[in-house]
Amino acid sequence: MAIPIRGRQLFGEGSDLAAWLALITQSHGDRRISKQPLQELVTAHWARGATLLKKDWESSGREMGRFVARLGELANFPGDVGNDDVGLPTPPAPTLAGEVRLPIGEVARDLRTDENVEFTLNGPGGSPHMAIMGGVGSGKTRTAVHMLKTLRRFGKVPLLAFDFKGDLAGGLSAIYSAEVVRPPEESIPLDVLDVSSDDDIAIKTAAARIRDSIASVKSRRPSGVQSEALREAIATTLKARTAGRIIALPDVARALVAEYEERGRGPDELTSTLNELTQFDLFVPDRSPADFFSRSWIILLPQDSSEEMRRLIMNLTLNALDKWLNAQPDAPTDGEGARSLRHLTLLDEAHVVLKTRLPALANLVRMSRSKGGVVVLASQSPDDFEGAEDDYLDNMGMTLAFNTQARPGPATRIFGSGYSLTGLNVGEAFCRIRSEARTRKIVSWEP
Ligand SMILES: Nc1ncnc2c1ncn2[C@@H]1O[C@H](COP(=O)(O)OP(=O)(O)OP(=O)(O)O)[C@@H](O)[C@H]1O
Ligand SMILES: [Mg+2]
Repeated sequence: MAIPIRGRQLFGEGSDLAAWLALITQSHGDRRISKQPLQELVTAHWARGATLLKKDWESSGREMGRFVARLGELANFPGDVGNDDVGLPTPPAPTLAGEVRLPIGEVARDLRTDENVEFTLNGPGGSPHMAIMGGVGSGKTRTAVHMLKTLRRFGKVPLLAFDFKGDLAGGLSAIYSAEVVRPPEESIPLDVLDVSSDDDIAIKTAAARIRDSIASVKSRRPSGVQSEALREAIATTLKARTAGRIIALPDVARALVAEYEERGRGPDELTSTLNELTQFDLFVPDRSPADFFSRSWIILLPQDSSEEMRRLIMNLTLNALDKWLNAQPDAPTDGEGARSLRHLTLLDEAHVVLKTRLPALANLVRMSRSKGGVVVLASQSPDDFEGAEDDYLDNMGMTLAFNTQARPGPATRIFGSGYSLTGLNVGEAFCRIRSEARTRKIVSWEP
């Protein structure tokens, strides 16, 4: 059956669409099209669709704008693609109320006083973030997992954990009902190119942040010109998105090549890195940041994948998290001043991302506490934190160090003088809880 749509006038009185709808519904009514059963079925299906469309067309007062909006509504499309600032405001993400106290490890005993050592994560005026340091095999991961398991007993909070060695999923996925994702074989269902609004400033800000996430993937920073071209390419891609196109990371790579051509530049290291990394579908925009971060995820980043890919995954995810979490209203505090919790992030092997000096991580550590965010960083040595532009360690509510090699400067800055991290026995650690303003030597776990 020829469908008389010639792309001239699709809507309106006497238009092709109206004629087409009339033709199908009428043809089906008097069965003139075919007697063949398959054809009949297809015809019936088309006719039903056409009848429904006709009804929607009528109920929209035969007005194209209302008709399209109605179809969008029925198909469950967002009213304005990529624009979650318009329409109904998104309600704030729920929080977990009440004081949360966590023993520092499975034993958590003060070696001098024999007291049980607990960290009040969300006490008045304190910081909920934790840094756990120690040499290879000193017990960082197990201690972090133990503390997060204990935390879960206080109630439900979504968790995002990056797992480098496959040793988190076993302890945490069931207890947090976390979905385990293995990129690049499995894509992370997070819309990392989300823009809050289609105005110029929102696009420029989002583009600059995404640019930082991509630019810091390589240890050698892009030049000013490369960085500017990348920001422009991302802005172009985001604009296309706010105009209704579905975009993904490969579009950014293509836009960068176009941007370079416009500027008379040939391909370089940046274009080839981006092309290489965007060959994989690392992310698919199935879930908005609000939806994604209201659930628990364990992202497996095995060490046989390239460091650049691991960094790109962490950077873009943390950027989306920072943007979403820091846009939330402040988490409420209870009568005792305990701040409710909204989201937990565990960065095991945190040096991988600390080295990239990612502004999103610095923001999360500096600003998310009032939003109910908790960041747990596990890393080998206080030295890992030293290179970071922002003073992460000053923002930690609890710092724990097992036996590890460390230059005296950073260790002294955290724990004070006279604490040798290389002299600690297995399972022992120095622990500094900010609100106590003193360093304790503890047995965190016993072999
Ligand atoms: N609480 C504990 N109780 C008993 N054994 C432990 C405990 N914590 C750690 N261990 C022992 O130490 C080993 C290393 O622990 P874990 O993987 O947590 O260390 P890590 O510091 O994260 O190591 P890596 O640097 O390799 O990531 C464990 O396999 C286990 O044998
Ligand atoms: Mg570990």
